[in-house]
Amino acid sequence: MTQAELERGVGEILIDEDALQARIVELGAEISADYEGRDLLLVGVLKGAVFFMADLMRELTVPCEIDFMAISSYGAATDSSGVVRILKDLDINVAGRDVLVVEDIIDSGLTLSYLVRNLSARKPDSLEVVALLTKPDRREIEVPVRYVGFEIPNRFVIGYGLDFAERYRNLPYVAVLHADLVPNAT
Ligand code: IMP
Ligand code: MG
Repeated sequence: MTQAELERGVGEILIDEDALQARIVELGAEISADYEGRDLLLVGVLKGAVFFMADLMRELTVPCEIDFMAISSYGAATDSSGVVRILKDLDINVAGRDVLVVEDIIDSGLTLSYLVRNLSARKPDSLEVVALLTKPDRREIEVPVRYVGFEIPNRFVIGYGLDFAERYRNLPYVAVLHADLVPNAT
């Protein structure tokens, strides 16, 4: 990414690096306390959740494993249809496991709702969700989210795993996508 592209895309910084990391430390402590004495299986949703998951995992004091799923929603790139296709399934069997799904952001909730239904059918011992960000105003379907990092307004955000056309995931903070580039779907 060139400096010019970077500057063109990045709007107002919504959550800076210190605030992100401080909140992740809190979430890690809360999750570690809740799962004391158990083994956790973290299920990350590729690709956006990778960055949050890596930092969160290093704050956990309970034994944990990670695995990943890749899913794609049919329909426009920036608007979730709720019809989801599994592109990469888990390697680890979740039956009898304590599973924590790690998501970057919950928007309509449709993707997560599908995922939770799909994973529940595999009979884990427990199934919870941690999401770094949530946009409550955009919710179309209720999804039970046990842990939330930050509630944000209805704006398209980039950075810390979140992309616009696959770019900007490497920003260490969460910023609003610059108005010139905002997709019309959001
Ligand atoms: P949902 O099914 O509408 O909840 O969509 C969730 C997925 O849409 C997330 O996992 C992201 O990949 C993507 N998404 C939703 N909002 C944003 C955003 O503001 N920036 C970047 N990606 C987003
Ligand atoms: Mg995405």
